[in-house]
Amino acid sequence: MSKPFPSSMDFAGYNAPSRVECDIYDLVVEGQVPADIDGTWYRSIPDPQYAPMLGDDTYLSGDGMVSAFVFENGHVDYRMRYVQTDRWKHERKARRSLYGLYRNPYTDDPSVRGSAAGTSKGSRGVANTTPIFHGGRLLALKEDSRGWELDPITLETRGEWDYDGKLRSQTMTAHTRLDPENGELHFFGYEASGLATRDVSYCIADKSGSLVKEEFFEVPYCSMMHDFAVTKEHVIFPVFPTTADLARMKSGGAHWVWEPTKETFVGIMPRGASVKDIRWFRGPPTSAYHFMNAYTEGSKVHLDFGAGKVNPFPFIQQASGIQVQPGEAAGDYVRWTFDLARPSDRWEEYKLGPGGEMPRIAEKDFMVDYDVGYYQTYNPEAGPPLLCGPVGAGFNTMLRIEVKSGRITSLAVPPGMTIQEAVHIPSKKAGDEGYLAFVVDVHEKNLSEVWLVEAANLPKGPIARIHVPLRLRAAVHGNWVTAAELEGRKRAA
Ligand SMILES: [Fe+2]
Repeated sequence: MSKPFPSSMDFAGYNAPSRVECDIYDLVVEGQVPADIDGTWYRSIPDPQYAPMLGDDTYLSGDGMVSAFVFENGHVDYRMRYVQTDRWKHERKARRSLYGLYRNPYTDDPSVRGSAAGTSKGSRGVANTTPIFHGGRLLALKEDSRGWELDPITLETRGEWDYDGKLRSQTMTAHTRLDPENGELHFFGYEASGLATRDVSYCIADKSGSLVKEEFFEVPYCSMMHDFAVTKEHVIFPVFPTTADLARMKSGGAHWVWEPTKETFVGIMPRGASVKDIRWFRGPPTSAYHFMNAYTEGSKVHLDFGAGKVNPFPFIQQASGIQVQPGEAAGDYVRWTFDLARPSDRWEEYKLGPGGEMPRIAEKDFMVDYDVGYYQTYNPEAGPPLLCGPVGAGFNTMLRIEVKSGRITSLAVPPGMTIQEAVHIPSKKAGDEGYLAFVVDVHEKNLSEVWLVEAANLPKGPIARIHVPLRLRAAVHGNWVTAAELEGRKRAA
């Protein structure tokens, strides 16, 4: 008998755990899926096997579930499987939850205490944040540990991936950065030498997936460094004041608290240089999770993202002893510009658009001067807030922004629906802006749809609605992999 899940925000309503592994052949499509869409959209969903051992927990602790929408000749198939991490296997065997507070191993059941990569108890990681495909490998990533490799077709788990034993960092970000020109994958890991350490690794894997660079440096304090950015000329490491403390963890406290007495730091180094060459900038406390893009223009480095006033996660706010009303945490969508020609350690901030999250751009624009980006926001005029995902109210509006002019177009879903992160799908037609696909949560029916829209024309609405006969618990991130990239990887099909 499995214990019931709590009725708290992270487990109630549309956030209720799903725990469904499935294959659905030929989803019902209303409208037309263009034949030039040929590939697989992978998504990572936190989905706990068992109710929290300590009575409650955050959404972000959920076991990693990887799903795949496979698009071929206008048809769409669906597959969903758990990532069979060490943690998943231990809990499966025990038929209950064995791990305590979010990323606090000192609160774990004695049977698994001491879990870590390379130990007999294995990794504590849940691999629930981002699926990436690089060097012929599909990896399920979460920043608390190394990646887990999956078969890209069957989604079977192959094992933890340490770059053939070369990776020293104990962790790997879920926000890697691909250089589409040369195929290099840039990534980092914070808490790289263990819990609450200030050590950060910076790594590059070449096009074939071989680790060709790994360097370590120290950040001013141990921070939840969720994302970073890379331009053709520079690497950018933002450090925001959501902080970890080992003594607090050892006494059974939270891994993360929001600590606004600390400044924000941003480290910038020339690409190809050493981490010894990082130059630090500093500014007021800010909270941010995802960078839309960054590029270098002469002596200036531009970084575009949704800036927040305070950490948005309720479980971190609670651990920090603060109460924030909905909407109070969000700031604007901004550009920070760092002028490397000036001796100042400050940046300039410019407003780009209304606050929002889950940014995407076309892969061709990664790391270079660009104009078009997409992100999501909650617009109260489009409908009352609905619970979906780890922050609380789900988004209901997709935005397309031209960052140079500030021109914005949008598409809101009807009241009663929320949207999950979009993926950008390139078109095979020259000059075409491509498509966006995103899961739409139909709360009243407790079901999901995928809306496919023309990226250049959001107000037109969906050109296809793909019906999923299930409620798809909110994913964190996803990525599009073309059929051509997957060619030759079908041996396990
Ligand atoms: Fe993220």
